[in-house]
Amino acid sequence: MFQGMGLKWSALLYLPLVLSAQTATQSSPNKYVGSQACKTCHPDVWLNFYKNPHARPDTGCEGCHGPGGDHVAAHGGKATIRAFSTFTPAQAQEACLSCHAKDVSRANINHSPHTNADIVCTNCHSIHKPATPRFLLAKTQTELCYSCHPAERAAFEMPSKHRVNEGVVQCSDCHNPHGAPNTTVRMGGSTAMLQPAFDNEEPCLKCHVDKRGPFVFEHPSVRIEGCEACHMPHGSMNAKLLRRPVVFTLCLECHNGAGTFGRENLGVFEPSSMHNLLDPTYQHCTLCHVRIHGSNADPTFLR
Ligand code: HEC
Ligand code: HEC
Ligand code: HEC
Ligand code: HEC
Ligand code: HEC
Ligand code: HEC
Ligand code: HEC
Ligand code: HEC
Ligand code: HEC
Ligand code: HEC
Repeated sequence: MFQGMGLKWSALLYLPLVLSAQTATQSSPNKYVGSQACKTCHPDVWLNFYKNPHARPDTGCEGCHGPGGDHVAAHGGKATIRAFSTFTPAQAQEACLSCHAKDVSRANINHSPHTNADIVCTNCHSIHKPATPRFLLAKTQTELCYSCHPAERAAFEMPSKHRVNEGVVQCSDCHNPHGAPNTTVRMGGSTAMLQPAFDNEEPCLKCHVDKRGPFVFEHPSVRIEGCEACHMPHGSMNAKLLRRPVVFTLCLECHNGAGTFGRENLGVFEPSSMHNLLDPTYQHCTLCHVRIHGSNADPTFLR
């Protein structure tokens, strides 16, 4: 993937920097000196580097920090090298994207809520002190996300929940921290960087394939409003991650005859008078309407 991304290529990428360093400090061009030259003065960083996926001939120290010739000649200093501690978030992001635009889509990351809030690569990834060898995360994924999203921790401790804390499901099963494409289904209206399943559908369907359909008789709410119309995605006090404790109150949010949509422009059908809502039996709508996510046999989802 990075074939041909040798020193010449990197030299091109950092040309503007090379030029400015050159005019600022000396007249001969700043040279690449190789990672070995960094060992004596940065032994802590250097000695751990062999484990790093960047420890390759084409991405040594200077792949990120730029040519080290001036820096070594000056016996160090932040002004003679690309020092991330002096970078703005946007500069740090751009430094990583110069090689990673193939893994991390610019189109997605540029409009992600993370980038908009100045949360960039180096907030989540730690090149020199990673907590996870894979993906070089600054903390294990769940702890990383909770460190900035503490409210979500409480959701995943509720009685009904996706078992994220237990390691069964991960935040990144549903979210793409690098931003997500605009989809045409309901997610298109979400700012939550939902990672689509099957290119264009809710992430939920990747695991709950039986809810995907297509069904002969679709329940439009599942398809149009999406799973979140009835379920809390993270956790809920109610069984089955439902938004409401009693099923019928959920159904009546839509099935109340109000509004002007639906097949006959009369709003969503109210249940017929046969449905005696004072009778507890009828309050458990899904006792009868068992195929609530869609049915291949019955237009009212009874089987
Ligand atoms: C993939 C990009 C990348 C590569 C390759 C890389 N660094 Fe870094 N380096 C960074 C970033 C980003 C920081 C800022 C701190 C951080 O986020 O971990 C940093 C910080 C540093 C620091 C500041 C002190 C510190 O520990 O944070 C030194 C010194 C340093 N790097 C030296 C090196 C040396 C020596 C090598 C080669 C052995 C190297 N770097 C390879 C990206 C890189
Ligand atoms: C002669 C000693 C010496 C050598 C050789 C050396 N450095 Fe440094 N380096 C320093 C000193 C001193 C600093 C300044 C530290 C400070 O101000 O906190 C520094 C700072 C840096 C920083 C800035 C860290 C920050 O604050 O973000 C980076 C990156 C860095 N060096 C990378 C390298 C790389 C890559 C090499 C090899 C090409 C290298 N250094 C070789 C002495 C050296
Ligand atoms: C000079 C090119 C280059 C730069 C700049 C660069 N990387 Fe990399 N990065 C690579 C290569 C090459 C790999 C190894 C890819 C592989 O093994 O498939 C890699 C691997 C990674 C991985 C590990 C992926 C995995 O599957 O475990 C992460 C995370 C990563 N880089 C993040 C960063 C971040 C964050 C920055 C900016 C601080 C950065 N990279 C800058 C070239 C680069
Ligand atoms: C909000 C936190 C966050 C930010 C910001 C972030 N990452 Fe990541 N990144 C992650 C997590 C979490 C994973 C692991 C995903 C997984 O487990 O599937 C990851 C995985 C990766 C991988 C390896 C897997 C892949 O998707 O190819 C690379 C490479 C990578 N990130 C590079 C970057 C670069 C480059 C940037 C900045 C342009 C960046 N990341 C910004 C959290 C982040
Ligand atoms: C360094 C802090 C930080 C880390 C780490 C972080 N986030 Fe964020 N995240 C933010 C900020 C700031 C925003 C934008 C403001 C907001 O909406 O809270 C945001 C926004 C989001 C949003 C959009 C919220 C919305 O209102 O639509 C989601 C989803 C999200 N983050 C998920 C994650 C996941 C998953 C991880 C772990 C892979 C993660 N974040 C790691 C700081 C962080
Ligand atoms: C089972 C899928 C799934 C998992 C796992 C998941 N999320 Fe979400 N998350 C969602 C959906 C769906 C939304 C709501 C999107 C909407 O309605 O716009 C959401 C919304 C969010 C938001 C926006 C604020 C809010 O509560 O509406 C944040 C922040 C967030 N998630 C963070 C996380 C973090 C952190 C993790 C891991 C600890 C995580 N999510 C795990 C599916 C998931
Ligand atoms: C990575 C796979 C995965 C994804 C993606 C996923 N789920 Fe789940 N879901 C599970 C697993 C596994 C369980 C079983 C829970 C358990 O046993 O802890 C589950 C359980 C459920 C339950 C039943 C909970 C109960 O108490 O019986 C509902 C409802 C649910 N998921 C809805 C959703 C919704 C809505 C989404 C999208 C926002 C989603 N799921 C995304 C794996 C996933
Ligand atoms: C119209 C409301 C509604 C929508 C929309 C909805 N569900 Fe459900 N779902 C329910 C109800 C009600 C139950 C509980 C059924 C029961 O207890 O008999 C349930 C149960 C579940 C269960 C656990 C029991 C089972 O059948 O496996 C899963 C998993 C689930 N839903 C996933 C999803 C997914 C994924 C989506 C989006 C594709 C979705 N739901 C959309 C109402 C809905
Ligand atoms: C988000 C809105 C919404 C929610 C919540 C909802 N529905 Fe629906 N439902 C619809 C729409 C829209 C239709 C299609 C109406 C039409 O075509 O005119 C429909 C159709 C139906 C039908 C088929 C009607 C027919 O004659 O074809 C049944 C049965 C049904 N819903 C039962 C339920 C039950 C039971 C619940 C609660 C578990 C529920 N719905 C929750 C929106 C919703
Ligand atoms: C005891 C079984 C049972 C329960 C409980 C039940 N239904 Fe029904 N429902 C039916 C039957 C049977 C039909 C089909 C009537 C027909 O075909 O004429 C139906 C039809 C419907 C229809 C289609 C329009 C209509 O009335 O013909 C809707 C909408 C509906 N039910 C919603 C609900 C809602 C919402 C609840 C919970 C408050 C619920 N049902 C509880 C048995 C039940």
